[in-house]
Amino acid sequence: MRRSLTLIAAAATLGLTLAGCGGSGQAPAESAAPASEATGEVGVFTWWADGSEKAGLDALVDVFKTDYPNLTFDNLAVAGGAGSQAKSVLAAQLKAGTPPDSFQAHAGAELQDYIDADQLEDLTGFYTENKLTDQFPKDLIDRLTVDGKIYSVPSNIHRSNVVWANVKVLEKAGVDPAKPADSLEAWFADMDKIKASGKTPLAVAGTWTQTQLFENVLLSSLGVDGYNGLWNGQTDWKGAEVTKAIEAYKKTLSYTNSDRDSLSDWAPATQLVEDGAAAYNLMGDWAEAKFAQDGKKAGTDYSYFPMPGTAGVFNFLADSFTLPVGAPNPAGAKAWLSTIGSAEGQTAFNKVKGSIPANTTAKTDDFSEYQKSAIKDFSQDKIVSSLAHGAAVPVAWLNELSTAVSKFGGDGNVSALQDAAAATADKFAK
Ligand code: GAL
Repeated sequence: MRRSLTLIAAAATLGLTLAGCGGSGQAPAESAAPASEATGEVGVFTWWADGSEKAGLDALVDVFKTDYPNLTFDNLAVAGGAGSQAKSVLAAQLKAGTPPDSFQAHAGAELQDYIDADQLEDLTGFYTENKLTDQFPKDLIDRLTVDGKIYSVPSNIHRSNVVWANVKVLEKAGVDPAKPADSLEAWFADMDKIKASGKTPLAVAGTWTQTQLFENVLLSSLGVDGYNGLWNGQTDWKGAEVTKAIEAYKKTLSYTNSDRDSLSDWAPATQLVEDGAAAYNLMGDWAEAKFAQDGKKAGTDYSYFPMPGTAGVFNFLADSFTLPVGAPNPAGAKAWLSTIGSAEGQTAFNKVKGSIPANTTAKTDDFSEYQKSAIKDFSQDKIVSSLAHGAAVPVAWLNELSTAVSKFGGDGNVSALQDAAAATADKFAK
């Protein structure tokens, strides 16, 4: 199977050989985590603190406990989707020289930050010892490799450009759930009908969910090359195409709930769709996990489709786990990383998390229909890097751009957002 992966600021289109990624029928027998002499506590830092995200982490911890009964899992999760709170807490710990045993980071530019700051141990030997190298898509490994070394173990692959819809709300508004909009213009027309029916067309929450919506409007408006160019200097942030894209974002925002900034996180926005108060929510596919956890049925309660104008594109992100320099229990951390990398760990975790396994030998036979469709899409779509989830740009760039996007939510000033985004790109693009 050949795929194309376009990642990070380099945004190079690479030919990928990801045979079996996410579980093909011909996958070899599942790998188990190797034995370890390690004892004591393993402190693991994530932002999977509640709801379906915690359920995913718990499923992984269950496998860890079975793999390593001599180790105790210490849950150091800091709440806040997309690491909105966790990343600054982590940065302070790393700066103070008091790292956890392992922490969650996004594959791509975000991980590069930690590598550049010499905060991560080299895991190349760990990959060889655990025979992990061949179990992950070669080009995902390539993207995680810096100067011949690899510093983290990916636990999953998520997609950010998915719209989740309430089937009954659409039907009542006269919008056919079986025929999702395939362009922004068509989507706006559907959202006009929904507005007329008295419902909120599009649910969104605070800053990072707005940034995620922004990235997907940019992707829809500019296309794959135009979007990638925003991060590698090939697209002029000051150009007329970007102005049009920001205007489209402004229109998109006009369909959202006015209390968006007071919604604490992504789950309350997805909940509005579940409850039938809103028709749509643009959200990464951790939303699939919430629908499943809440007993909702795809097709009758909810439906999903790619962000209009982005069919055939997979806006990619992956959570990858590290061994920080100075970790209190490095042997315990390696045991944790072994569970994460193992096929059993990946199956248990991803089934509950809504994502798809990064380990190509993980079984996915009993995954949901959505997840099976994501596996298929990942095998054939063009892959781009998520802005809001650390794949496309370093944390400092993301933070500055998010501040401008958040301000725009209040003032709707297109040229101010465009100028701020252009200045930020000038500052950080290498
Ligand atoms: C992403 C993360 C996902 C999910 C999401 C919402 O950044 O990669 O695994 O946790 O945030 O919190």
